[in-house]
Amino acid sequence: MTGTIKHTHRSKWKCPSNIALVKYWGKRDFQKPMNPSLSFVLCNAFTETSVELHKNGDQKVEFNFEGEAGLFGERIEKYLDHVSGRLSWINKYNFRIHSQNSFPHSAGIASSASSFGALALCLTELDFALSGKEIGCSDFWQKASELARIGSGSACRSVYPGFAIWGKTQLFESCSDDYAVPILGGINQTFYGLRDAILMVDTGTKEVSSSFGHSLMDNHIYQRSRIAQAHENMNELYLALLTGNQEKFVSVVENEALSLHAMMMTSDPSFILLKPNSLELISRIRRFREKSKIPVCFTIDAGPNIHLLYFKENEIDVRAFIERELLDFCENGKWIDDRIGGGPKASPNHSKGGE
Ligand code: DP6
Repeated sequence: MTGTIKHTHRSKWKCPSNIALVKYWGKRDFQKPMNPSLSFVLCNAFTETSVELHKNGDQKVEFNFEGEAGLFGERIEKYLDHVSGRLSWINKYNFRIHSQNSFPHSAGIASSASSFGALALCLTELDFALSGKEIGCSDFWQKASELARIGSGSACRSVYPGFAIWGKTQLFESCSDDYAVPILGGINQTFYGLRDAILMVDTGTKEVSSSFGHSLMDNHIYQRSRIAQAHENMNELYLALLTGNQEKFVSVVENEALSLHAMMMTSDPSFILLKPNSLELISRIRRFREKSKIPVCFTIDAGPNIHLLYFKENEIDVRAFIERELLDFCENGKWIDDRIGGGPKASPNHSKGGE
C-alpha cells in the first residue's frame, strides 16, 4: 500500500570531513572522548544530505544513498533512536533521507564525520524550525555539534569552519566533552593556507573498525600516559598555531600520528593498520623535509593512507615532489588534493511546505 505522503519540512546541508592534528582515541561513557582533540575541516571531501519530514508515510525512514554510501544507512535508524531523547518530534514523523559523498566511501577519508555532520545539521535546522527558534545562533552550532558527536565522535568537529577543539582542556573554559567548539581568532594566517594531499595507500575495507580500536583504550597499559601526552600536545600545538611556528606544528602533528598507531600496536589484542607503502611514504616525506627545509609533515587516521600536510607558499615544490616521488607508492597512483575549508553550508533549496 502506498499512502499519500504530505511534505512538511525539509533541510539540506553540505558538511566537510575533517582531519585531526591531535587525535581522539578512546572513549568514556557514551561517545565522550578520553582526551581532547583538535582538527581542521577539509574543503573538497564533503557529504551533502537532505532530510524531509513527512506525516502519514508507510516507512519510518526511507534512505537514498548515492554511490558507495550504502553501508552508512545501517547506522542511521539506530542513530535516530539515540537522538530521539533530545529531539522529541522524531517519533512523530517519517523521514526521507538523501545523501551523497563527494569522495568514494573506500577513499579512507572519515566519511562518518561528514555524513553525521551533515545529518546533524539537518536535524538541528528542523528542530529549530519546528520550535520557532532562530537558526544560526551559537546554540544552533553547539546543538549540531552535539548531535553529530552522538553519531560519530570526530563528526562533532566538522560543523565549524577552520579549526575546532573537542574535549575538555586547560586551554579554554568553553571546551566540552559534549560538543566541539571552533577556534575563532588568533590563529596565525599561515595555517589558513594548509594543504592536505591524501595519499591513498590502500582503499580496501579496514581490518579493524575505529569503534573496536577505541574500546581497546579502556584497559590499555599506556592509557594514562596517552591522555597526558594528548593534553601536552594540545597546549604545544595551540601555541604553535598562535605564533605561526611551523616547525613546532610539524613535530607535534607527526608525534600525534605515530602515537595513535603506537596505541594500536600496543593494545591487547594489538593490530597494525600501516602498510609497507605507508612507511615508505613517511620516510620519503621526512627525507624531503630534511633536504629541502620545506615544512611538510604527515598525519594518519585509523588506516594506512597518509595525509601529507603542507603550506600554500610551498605548493609548487611540494606538488612536484608528490608527482615525482610519492605516487608510485599509492594504489593506482591515487591521491586527493585537498585543503583547509570554510565549513558547512546550508543548501539554498531547503524549504518548508504546508501540511
Ligand atoms: C583516528 O570518530 O570514527 O580519526 O566515535 O566511534 O565514530 P566513532 O569514532 P571516529 O574515530 C576517529 C578517530 C581518528 C582520530 C580523530 O579523528 O580524532
